[in-house]
Amino acid sequence: MNTVMLGCAEEDLIAAAKLIVSGEVVGFPTETVYGLGANAYDEAAVKKIFAAKGRPADNPLIVHICGLDMISGLAKDIPPLAYKLAERFWPGPLTMILPKSDKVPLVTSGGLDTVGIRFPSHPAARRLIELCGLPIAAPSANLSGSPSPTTSRRVYEDMNGRIPAIIDGGESAVGVESTVISLENGGVRILRPGGITKEMLQEICPVSIDDGVLKELGSGAVARSPGMKYKHYAPKADVKIVKGGLSKYREYVLDHAQSGDFCLLFSEKEAVEGVPFVLCGEDSAAQAHKLFEALRLLDERGAKTVFARCPETGGVGLAVYNRLLRAAGFCVVDLEG
Ligand code: TXA
Ligand code: MG
Repeated sequence: MNTVMLGCAEEDLIAAAKLIVSGEVVGFPTETVYGLGANAYDEAAVKKIFAAKGRPADNPLIVHICGLDMISGLAKDIPPLAYKLAERFWPGPLTMILPKSDKVPLVTSGGLDTVGIRFPSHPAARRLIELCGLPIAAPSANLSGSPSPTTSRRVYEDMNGRIPAIIDGGESAVGVESTVISLENGGVRILRPGGITKEMLQEICPVSIDDGVLKELGSGAVARSPGMKYKHYAPKADVKIVKGGLSKYREYVLDHAQSGDFCLLFSEKEAVEGVPFVLCGEDSAAQAHKLFEALRLLDERGAKTVFARCPETGGVGLAVYNRLLRAAGFCVVDLEG
């Protein structure tokens, strides 16, 4: 299959919408990461997404909408809190897990009786959904297991020959995937942290953080969000998060680095003499924006072991730490003891 690159002009979005309406899969930009979209109601089309990504069938997809009126076809028994959260945070990087309607095929929900719904803010994503007149099921546009793509070039690298078209909408602004929440007892539980932070959600209701966000699930544990049980965002390099002040970090790297190893730093001022590095941004927002690209760059440069600085975990930093933990297979070297 030949993969065509499209822009965000109206005629390009019309061409992409035609593909989706006819049962095809299209790569498209969102403010979080790029998605691989198909008609959420079309079983055969949704199966093509799983095939293109090599994604396990029990990992559910998020369904993307372009207006609140679309929810009623997708979900049922919607609690008032969902509308309150929608009013405050949509369009934006928040996914709500709600009881699914019978119209949503089980292929889309990974066999669950719930469905994740998100109203993205990227103008091209919104226009695309509008032109389709359908909710669009879309996971991140990477091959299963590799870091989510934040540019159309990275989507092309993973999906060339697997899907008919990719829309280029520039770099994803947030850079990590949406916050996924479930609603319970008048509050929310964060299943996956993202651009809508715990602190922001706390302005509306009580918030808890699921154990799976910062801990590796035990082999017998049931993941509330199936995506959490898979090895995710995994670069080929062996990533270690090194937790400690800069001088301890440097000492550790000097003791352990071998040829082919890299540092993942927040600033070039942190560089360790003789060890090459990739940068990931000074504050949490910049780290979120750059993390996945940095992981892909490290692979391109053939990094063997990567010694990553440990990010702050407030605000969107929690999402950065959550993704880095998975990239590192939960390997944290704690020098603070
Ligand atoms: O920002 C995003 O959310 C991006 C863009 C494209 O919108 N999408 C994305 O999709 O990250 P994906 O499929 O890569 O990640 C969806 C996550 C998975 O961990 C999945 O297990 C979880 O959301 N999820 C989806 N539906 C769910 C459900 N009904 N119950 C529990 N978890 C669900
Ligand atoms: Mg993904």
